[in-house]
Amino acid sequence: MAVWLAQWLGPLLLVSLWGLLAPASLLRRLGEHIQQFQESSAQGLGLSLGPGAAALPKVGWLEQLLDPFNVSDRRSFLQRYWVNDQHWVGQDGPIFLHLGGEGSLGPGSVMRGHPAALAPAWGALVISLEHRFYGLSIPAGGLEMAQLRFLSSRLALADVVSARLALSRLFNISSSSPWICFGGSYAGSLAAWARLKVVSRSLMSTAIGGSLECRAAVSVAFAEVERRLRSGGAAQAALRTELSACGPLGRAENQAELLGALQALVGGVVQYDGQTGAPLSVRQLCGLLLGGGGNRSHSTPYCGLRRAVQIVLHSLGQKCLSFSRAETVAQLRSTEPQLSGVGDRQWLYQTCTEFGFYVTCENPRCPFSQLPALPSQLDLCEQVFGLSALSVAQAVAQTNSYYGGQTPGANKVLFVNGDTDPWHVLSVTQALGSSESTLLIRTGSHCLDMAPERPSDSPSLRLGRQNIFQQLQTWLKLAKESQIKGEV
Ligand SMILES: *[C@@H]1O[C@H](CO)[C@@H](O)[C@H](O)[C@H]1NC(C)=O
Ligand SMILES: *[C@@H]1O[C@H](CO)[C@@H](O)[C@H](O)[C@H]1NC(C)=O
Ligand SMILES: *[C@@H]1O[C@H](CO)[C@@H](O)[C@H](O)[C@H]1NC(C)=O
Repeated sequence: MAVWLAQWLGPLLLVSLWGLLAPASLLRRLGEHIQQFQESSAQGLGLSLGPGAAALPKVGWLEQLLDPFNVSDRRSFLQRYWVNDQHWVGQDGPIFLHLGGEGSLGPGSVMRGHPAALAPAWGALVISLEHRFYGLSIPAGGLEMAQLRFLSSRLALADVVSARLALSRLFNISSSSPWICFGGSYAGSLAAWARLKVVSRSLMSTAIGGSLECRAAVSVAFAEVERRLRSGGAAQAALRTELSACGPLGRAENQAELLGALQALVGGVVQYDGQTGAPLSVRQLCGLLLGGGGNRSHSTPYCGLRRAVQIVLHSLGQKCLSFSRAETVAQLRSTEPQLSGVGDRQWLYQTCTEFGFYVTCENPRCPFSQLPALPSQLDLCEQVFGLSALSVAQAVAQTNSYYGGQTPGANKVLFVNGDTDPWHVLSVTQALGSSESTLLIRTGSHCLDMAPERPSDSPSLRLGRQNIFQQLQTWLKLAKESQIKGEV
């Protein structure tokens, strides 16, 4: 995630990597499952705050221009926001603005998680803003290709600027109130081809229950799946039953998809390690792979992987493991919006036109199959949107140069990452100067610092949150001083 003091508006970016990954729908479902789990406990919290609190949080809609960069285009759409004013001291109190990423935003976005937890200490107003084209903030015309032209991080940033003006009027926010933005992860400036090496490293991390043996067991399990796939005939049929695969495995593209789904499952366990609602932790997964699954005498890494698949499918409420390429493409081509959860089609569009963000496994030490590689993922841009691999590469280069790549030159930005999270390699983890601080939380998983605090949180996560707190304190003090000097 990134936290920053908004100085309207440096090269900030708001795309969250909460769900991620276009083709690996299993990973996205996992992210959705965890988000819903955390959101539903958030609603419970809202109701238990006593009289008055039941009215919280408030939902509202802002009228935003579809294309703010074209003065002759007057079309608009409604953008959803949530407000928690329970702690707000009014007047010059700070505003904590939580920016949505590639999914819908629920009431939990202003009631739970770090921005809401920090609000009482500063008497802050907590507002969350749903990203255009996700959740209920979808412009008329829906998700047709012609409309998706208006889905980009630059337009989303323009929304933030105008939302700030509109919200200031609506809530009578003084012009001297400092605005602090929180984002699920600071990603947009950092388009790059992700590598699975971090997943691999996390599987070996003893701090979260991994080990060298565990990483080796993943390799063995994947090699066994590949062996059975190649054998065809009875071995392949047995594989289908044992992994509860939804359809036959004969075609090469489906085999790649199946391996991709299994890879997403392991990657998902790492990405969401230790979060509420996650079906398996790294420790549990490694336990299964290393034969701790109850049946020691017959257990192999492959059996452990099978058990892990059952557990994840069960917790997602899915009967079988879906991997059909044709189905994936058909779903992504559908312009029917999903009103809650992650917007798969929209996010694929953003990866194809701005970010890249694909997971590949080219390094020989990568424990997964080499099969579901970059070409298969790039094909998806072509199959769904008719965008060539070349145009994706150009778009990524352009995004990197627009936002400054891994040295975005932003002012007062704190980049926070969990070092277990495979996505942290995409963010800025080396401090770039005194005003661009970075914080890498040891053993922290994806956007963990934005999740609600729990008694089981690791000391490093607690320390990380404390550091964020101190950074905010410094910035808000600076804001106060420059306010007195009349600089804002
Ligand atoms: C700007 O908007 C007008 C009116 O909708 C449209 O005709 C024109 O093509 C748009 N220009 C660009 C560059 O999109
Ligand atoms: C808005 O806030 C200012 C102080 O910042 C106050 O003087 C004014 O009365 C407020 N207006 C409304 C409508 O609440
Ligand atoms: C262990 O696995 C074998 C073969 O898969 C099976 O026959 C046996 O019943 C299992 N034992 C237990 C205790 O689950």
